[in-house]
Amino acid sequence: MSGIKTLGQFIIEKQADFSYAKGELSRLLRDIGIASKIVNREVNKAGLVDILGDAGTTNIQGEGQKKLDVYANEQFISALTSGGECCIVATEEEDDFVRIDSPVSQNAKYIVCIDPLDGSSNIDVNVAVGTIFSIYRRKSIEGKATLADVLQKGTEQVAAGYVIYGSSTMLVYTTGKGVNGFTLDPSIGEFCLSHPDMKVPEDGTIYSINEGNYVHFPEGVKKYLKYAQVEDLATKRPYTSRYIGSMVADIHRNLIKGGIYMYPTTSASPNGKLRLLYECNPMAFIIEQAGGTASDGLNRILDIVPTELHQRTSIFIGSPKMVKMAEILMEEYSPVKPLGDIDTVQVV
Ligand code: AHG
Ligand code: MN
Ligand code: MN
Repeated sequence: MSGIKTLGQFIIEKQADFSYAKGELSRLLRDIGIASKIVNREVNKAGLVDILGDAGTTNIQGEGQKKLDVYANEQFISALTSGGECCIVATEEEDDFVRIDSPVSQNAKYIVCIDPLDGSSNIDVNVAVGTIFSIYRRKSIEGKATLADVLQKGTEQVAAGYVIYGSSTMLVYTTGKGVNGFTLDPSIGEFCLSHPDMKVPEDGTIYSINEGNYVHFPEGVKKYLKYAQVEDLATKRPYTSRYIGSMVADIHRNLIKGGIYMYPTTSASPNGKLRLLYECNPMAFIIEQAGGTASDGLNRILDIVPTELHQRTSIFIGSPKMVKMAEILMEEYSPVKPLGDIDTVQVV
């Protein structure tokens, strides 16, 4: 096994970084890794078994669920239930958080927020999809964990990560001490360290946004897009436009190559589309740990105080110089309400 470091070995090695850790967080990360391998197996054979297409149901946000959304949701809840290390799972696919009431789990220290399958509109056409997860320590000391234990600021995360089911499958995670990426070696069924200490380039040339929504964007975003498309050799503009439609895949590419991913408010989604707890906070934690930034246009994503489980926000995330420029234009042309409001509605 010389030269190969598996995710399991790496997690155990890093456990010593946390004086309070007794192994629960390591086991929790291991449980998530195992569930993602089961989801990966189904994603890989999606055209061969009856798992493509709509489930015929909608989630609380009114979005149609795919069969694989439902399958992935079940796999992660099941792994986290039997693992015994978390007392609540909050998932994008359930109306309310799932409290795990078994004798072992009810006193467990951790809360997990999860987007079991990100980019599900891409499943049927064989394009990369992902899983995003976020882990918090429970705040309450006794009794049953409650919604207040889930509604923590992003700065309180103890770990976050994503899995990308792409041309290869990767798991990327942080525990607040940098970001490391592991590629699944299908021949041994293990995630192996392939991208140690990942860093997002300070500047980049890729912008990722659903430009079809252009007419509905805040003025600050329209100004940023014009800036991105103007010729300027010194700043390597015009930039390149790349948009997959799976947040995980778009941000993963920009993390490696340098770029900005934006999902702003639109007139159809006045609070933004992406979910703070399941998508924006974990990706913001990872990108900040890799040296990047994540903002809702004016405020740091990780400083937003959540008031609702399925809360949405606008997001600008990636290379710090690019996010800064977007923030400057947002501040000038589309001021945002200050932190502490119920949401982050734009004044356009
Ligand atoms: P999900 O599949 O978990 O609902 O997430 C989809 C998200 C995100 O992954 C993606 O970047 C974005 O929605 C795409 O939205 P548009 O189709 O509106 O561009
Ligand atoms: Mn998603
Ligand atoms: Mn999803």
